[in-house]
Amino acid sequence: MKPDLTTTIKGLRLKNPVTVASGTFGTTDEYAGYVDPKKLGAIITKTITVKPREGNPMPRICETTAGMLNAIGLQNKGLEDFVEQKIPYFKKIGVPLIVSIAGESAGEFGKLAKTFDGLKSVVKALEVNLSCPNVEAGGVNFMKKQERILDAVKAVRDQTDLLTFAKLSPELGDVVEIAGKVLEQGMDGISLINTLRGMAVDIRTRSSRLAKDFGGLSGPAIKPVALRYVFQVKKAYNCPVIASGGITDANDALEFLIVGADLLAVGTANFVEPRATLDILKGIESFCVKEKITNLDRLRGSYRTADTGKGK
Ligand SMILES: Cc1cc2nc3c(=O)[nH]c(=O)nc-3n(C[C@H](O)[C@H](O)[C@H](O)COP(=O)(O)O)c2cc1C
Repeated sequence: MKPDLTTTIKGLRLKNPVTVASGTFGTTDEYAGYVDPKKLGAIITKTITVKPREGNPMPRICETTAGMLNAIGLQNKGLEDFVEQKIPYFKKIGVPLIVSIAGESAGEFGKLAKTFDGLKSVVKALEVNLSCPNVEAGGVNFMKKQERILDAVKAVRDQTDLLTFAKLSPELGDVVEIAGKVLEQGMDGISLINTLRGMAVDIRTRSSRLAKDFGGLSGPAIKPVALRYVFQVKKAYNCPVIASGGITDANDALEFLIVGADLLAVGTANFVEPRATLDILKGIESFCVKEKITNLDRLRGSYRTADTGKGK
């Protein structure tokens, strides 16, 4: 029997938990030759800002051991272009859309939220990017001050009743504590984790392999860290969680489900295998059939803690 992969988050019903991590699936249509987007549970867009952004100079990605560094710098064509050019495309394909937003001020966060609140026939949730590690203004440096984070999420909450996820990076500080604070401000869930800041050196030129000194590390290298945070945040608050961080195959996805993830956002793996999302979906299904799991909720959060306190 086909297992039921339906995932419901505070009333939002998705046909399965597999989605794409922000910024790693082009503009979706670019991947459409490999992946029928209708098969995904949801699509998370790349981060949209109010004004267009050119992003950082090239080279801005490089491969590292078990991962990659990126310093894209939130390149996008801005809010107006997204609404005019991309919303009609997403409306046509009809997959629940989660729009990732970032502002350089609380006012900009509010403006983005208000605009997408008016597009509820297409936009089903917002991912509030509080953590891009490779942007100067509006990036992790700007956001490191906790009041700015809280002002941003408050501005979003004031402008919309859409489902909202705050996306956090360990670069911000104590992720579990910050998650609690943004939930208190009315965020519905947390998206974990954005990239960790790292660097790579070209030994011939003795300079960075990127056009900037640092970039955001993603891929299998960060999976254990992401898994730990998803587990901790779910345990502390039992809130909806979008997981990203090295989800490369079905086994990775299952690990995140077991520690409680609601949605599984596939990122860097899309660059290695454009069909990664669909392979993962198939693998989750096969595992459920083999293990006689008829409903994914039986698996979600079924982690058995090793921390029994014995011997302490
Ligand atoms: C090239 C690239 C671009 C990204 N762009 C964004 C972005 O625009 N907004 C965002 O919130 N996260 C962005 N991310 C972070 C991913 O969404 C994801 O959280 C992170 O890469 C961890 O998942 P992964 O290890 O599966 O890639 C980007 C990551 C990569 C590799």
